[in-house]
Amino acid sequence: MTTSGNIVEQTQQYLIENYGRLPLAVARGAGAKLWDADGREYLDFFPGFGAGGVAGHCHPKIVQTVKEQAQTLLSHGNLFTSAPQVDLARRITEKAFGGKVFYCHSGAEANEAALKLVRLAAGEGRYKIISFNDCFHGRTMGALSLTPESFQKGFEPMLPGTVKVDFGDLDATAAAVDGETAGIFVEPIQCEGGVTVPTAEFMQHLRKLCDRKGILLVCDEAWTAPARSGKWFAHQHYGITPDVMTLAKAIGGGLPLGACVAGPKWADVLAPGTHGCTTGGNPLCAAAGAAAMKLIEDENLVARAAAKGEQMAATLRDANIPRVREVRGKGFIIGLQLDEAKVAKDVMLACLDRRLIVCVAKNNVVRIAPALTTDDNLLDSGLEILIDVLKA
Ligand SMILES: Cc1ncc(COP(=O)(O)O)c(C=O)c1O
Repeated sequence: MTTSGNIVEQTQQYLIENYGRLPLAVARGAGAKLWDADGREYLDFFPGFGAGGVAGHCHPKIVQTVKEQAQTLLSHGNLFTSAPQVDLARRITEKAFGGKVFYCHSGAEANEAALKLVRLAAGEGRYKIISFNDCFHGRTMGALSLTPESFQKGFEPMLPGTVKVDFGDLDATAAAVDGETAGIFVEPIQCEGGVTVPTAEFMQHLRKLCDRKGILLVCDEAWTAPARSGKWFAHQHYGITPDVMTLAKAIGGGLPLGACVAGPKWADVLAPGTHGCTTGGNPLCAAAGAAAMKLIEDENLVARAAAKGEQMAATLRDANIPRVREVRGKGFIIGLQLDEAKVAKDVMLACLDRRLIVCVAKNNVVRIAPALTTDDNLLDSGLEILIDVLKA
């Protein structure tokens, strides 16, 4: 019989231990519920580490779309195009800022594409990229170069010309731009960095700075889109339009997909031969992504994320939990900053004992990012468990 225990044992034997996995093998999911291989049920407030962010696990409409697509066409080379690729790209660009889409599989790859696009667009001699302390853009060498030093140990030298400044520091950002700067990468909410929401003033300043200096602004929305923050794309909270946007996690409706969206002015920068990805925009993943985008529209999930997200944050604030310094976030991405470093993981494990899946960010923030379709009762009972654990 396959049990959680022997899957965990074989995991240790066959899989590289680069994640620090918990000893838990999952087997089945439905909506906000997840079951382990021994049949224990969990309430999942962090489905797929963001990938299940729209509809949780195995939503019937996404499953049906995937089934139909799997029976029709599983893959095609990118010398050809297909309806699912076009359908998803149309849905993304219509809700964002027009332009065109390049597909890949992950957030890191989307940022690699954006890096190359920015370098090409900026022109010769302009190669420097500014990003922010506490950001996260991925683990490949280019994306890692934009990510803080704590992730880079042992992998130096990084890409030349990557400069980090404090998130929210207007003056430092302006001072970091010089004649060799090509662009700025920013998360419209820093998620891995602790669920930090910038001010609209800061984001607007970045836009103006990029315009003034003739450099590109890239918003990394791997965590925040689609719809999670209570807008289709989180940059829309600040009334700005980036030049380029990167997407991953939930954009594939639970399947692996990444995307780099270039605004109209930059849509043809990645000309034939400049970049590629053999299975990027695989029709199965693109169809699942389009089904998730359709679900958001049909079920009005942008408005739900905004309204219910605010209510959840208020519930957590009103609980007056002595160990919680701050509750922050937007929509369905909420972080609770604890008063002491390194206890967030204990909270995560205590929640797991109570069959609630939450996550940590940095070392003192507990993070929840439930699926947007999670019903009110389940959200309320999950919050009750979380508050209970935090009070204990
Ligand atoms: C904002 C952001 N960008 C990029 C990435 C990297 O995505 P992936 O793990 O799909 O490469 C992450 C991952 O958490 C992220 O939070």
